[in-house]
Amino acid sequence: MRAFCSKLLISCALTTATSLTFAAVDYPTYPKIDVSHLSASDAAIVKKGEYLAKAGDCIACHTAAHDASAFGGGLGLETPFGAFYSPNITSDDATGIGKWSDKQFLDAVAHGNGPQGNYFPVFPFIYFNKMSDNDLLAIKAYLFAIPKVKRAQVANQVPWPFNIRLAQYGWKLLYFYPYEGKFKADPTQSTEWNRGAYLVEGPGHCGMCHSPLNPLGAEERSHRYTGGFIQGYYAPNITSEGLKDFSIDDIVKVFSADLKPGGGKIQGPMLEVNHDSLMYLTESDHRAIAIYLKSLQFKPAAVKHEAINAQTGEKIYGKYCAGCHANGGGGAPIVGDKADWQARMKDGFSQVLNSAINGVGGMPKMGNCLTCSQAEIQATVQYMVDNSLNSTDAKKPLDYYVMPELSMAQGKALYTQHCAACHQQGLHGAPKLGDVRAWQPLLHDDFDNILTVVLKGKGYSGNHMHPVQGACPTCSTSEIIAATKYLAQESSAGKADYSLW
Ligand code: HEC
Ligand code: HEC
Ligand code: HEC
Ligand code: HEC
Repeated sequence: MRAFCSKLLISCALTTATSLTFAAVDYPTYPKIDVSHLSASDAAIVKKGEYLAKAGDCIACHTAAHDASAFGGGLGLETPFGAFYSPNITSDDATGIGKWSDKQFLDAVAHGNGPQGNYFPVFPFIYFNKMSDNDLLAIKAYLFAIPKVKRAQVANQVPWPFNIRLAQYGWKLLYFYPYEGKFKADPTQSTEWNRGAYLVEGPGHCGMCHSPLNPLGAEERSHRYTGGFIQGYYAPNITSEGLKDFSIDDIVKVFSADLKPGGGKIQGPMLEVNHDSLMYLTESDHRAIAIYLKSLQFKPAAVKHEAINAQTGEKIYGKYCAGCHANGGGGAPIVGDKADWQARMKDGFSQVLNSAINGVGGMPKMGNCLTCSQAEIQATVQYMVDNSLNSTDAKKPLDYYVMPELSMAQGKALYTQHCAACHQQGLHGAPKLGDVRAWQPLLHDDFDNILTVVLKGKGYSGNHMHPVQGACPTCSTSEIIAATKYLAQESSAGKADYSLW
């Protein structure tokens, strides 16, 4: 089963355990084209278009799963806003774009204006907008040279108000028009750098996955390329900061050999991007991309690291760790359980600290506080150890720690940003928001147990699994609690008040 998706689209056709592990991905194949009947110059344009269509990964979205007819559309792209079905972009007159003029094509691909109105940003026209008209028309020439596919459009299943094409105008006003405009080469940079910039900003649409997104699915401009989430995978920071330990050659191998620069094999959505798109690019284009990425100076959203003081440990513990460690959630050693901590301390403090930093068993890396510094984690572990070994009555209830109490409205916003991807439509077997029948048995359980599933994640149970922290590693425990309460409240019979749950 194929499961490509780009950013907003958290999962397409992603319904089985095998597709989650990407073990049995069935990739689309590029059609053979015959250019022998074309003039040399037309053939060259089609060839160039083929290369650029590969760089733009058009095939990934525009080819239905289990469908040999490349570019025939019909792939369901799940987004937090509903399911979109990609259109047929072959040159079939009736069901494809065979009757489209060059202008119509440019309006669609570079400006997001279609015959029926504004396209939804699930179609990465905001990136293709950077491409030159000549390049885009070369893609059109290629699409008109491949076999036609007859395949009617499947209607999108997007709930109101997201289904309104006109509403996309507001979206474009906010997030597209201010940045619209063709790519302009920077004369102070090398030719290679400019080529890399063009590929990354334009056809490659790398930011769709690698940039953090706001709740309406637009890139957070000032933090571009500093990391995003897609289908439960983390698309890492690919700026100079994120890639600082890696050479240009290491980065090239990501694209050409599926090798992670830090070791191991590339997986998930990036593996599909490589397979459908990047592996077809020349080595010099791979290098150009790497050179450009190594120059990016965007910074992740600022994280304030306060100076370590006597309160640091308790504060972080309350915010990030108490969710599991105050009550033993997910098998975590309870703070205050002297015997348990004594046994753990046999190997020394540094060993225990090392487990906290790198994760062990059900203990997530950095206790899920990815924004914490190692010094902060150290202060926190010290606090936990002190309160376990030096006191006979140190076990404190979860609510002892002053975790900021968030409102239902904040819970809703966090839900929309982090959890809706699965829970809005019931993807990956997630119980759907508002599905009272599905939630009834779950809500009978203790809040602590339910929260533990969300915080700690869950391995396969049948085909289902839960991502650690609902795939939001930067969320604090309070934020996860707020999102969980909102989801529970909206899904309970009669929508009881869950704020005090
Ligand atoms: C991330 C997925 C994705 C990628 C990658 C993508 N598209 Fe699309 N495309 C879509 C979706 C979804 C729509 C329909 C949007 C809508 O209905 O508002 C669309 C619409 C279109 C349309 C309008 C067709 C019509 O009948 O209205 C054209 C043309 C098109 N894409 C061409 C391309 C080309 C060329 C590329 C590669 C350079 C490409 N697309 C890459 C998802 C994608
Ligand atoms: C569909 C989403 C998606 C798109 C589009 C995408 N990536 Fe990725 N990328 C990912 C994910 C997810 C990973 C992490 C893969 C893993 O953990 O095995 C990744 C990993 C990487 C890495 C390895 C980083 C590291 O430190 O391990 C690099 C480099 C990279 N991508 C560059 C790019 C570039 C350049 C583009 C555009 C040409 C791009 N990606 C487009 C999702 C995407
Ligand atoms: C999602 C639940 C969860 C959260 C959140 C969590 N932990 Fe843990 N932690 C565990 C579990 C489970 C273990 C036991 C792991 C094992 O021994 O296999 C553990 C073990 C530990 C240990 C003992 C390691 C050892 O070597 O025995 C330390 C120290 C620790 N956690 C610190 C922290 C800190 C600090 C935080 C917050 C920044 C934190 N934990 C957040 C679940 C959690
Ligand atoms: C990648 C998909 C995905 C995301 C993202 C996700 N969930 Fe879930 N969630 C699931 C699945 C699947 C289940 C059912 C797990 C099972 O089969 O036991 C589930 C179950 C739950 C449950 C019921 C737990 C139980 O068994 O008692 C809660 C509560 C929950 N999710 C909250 C959240 C919250 C809050 C977020 C966001 C912070 C979130 N989820 C994000 C997929 C997801």
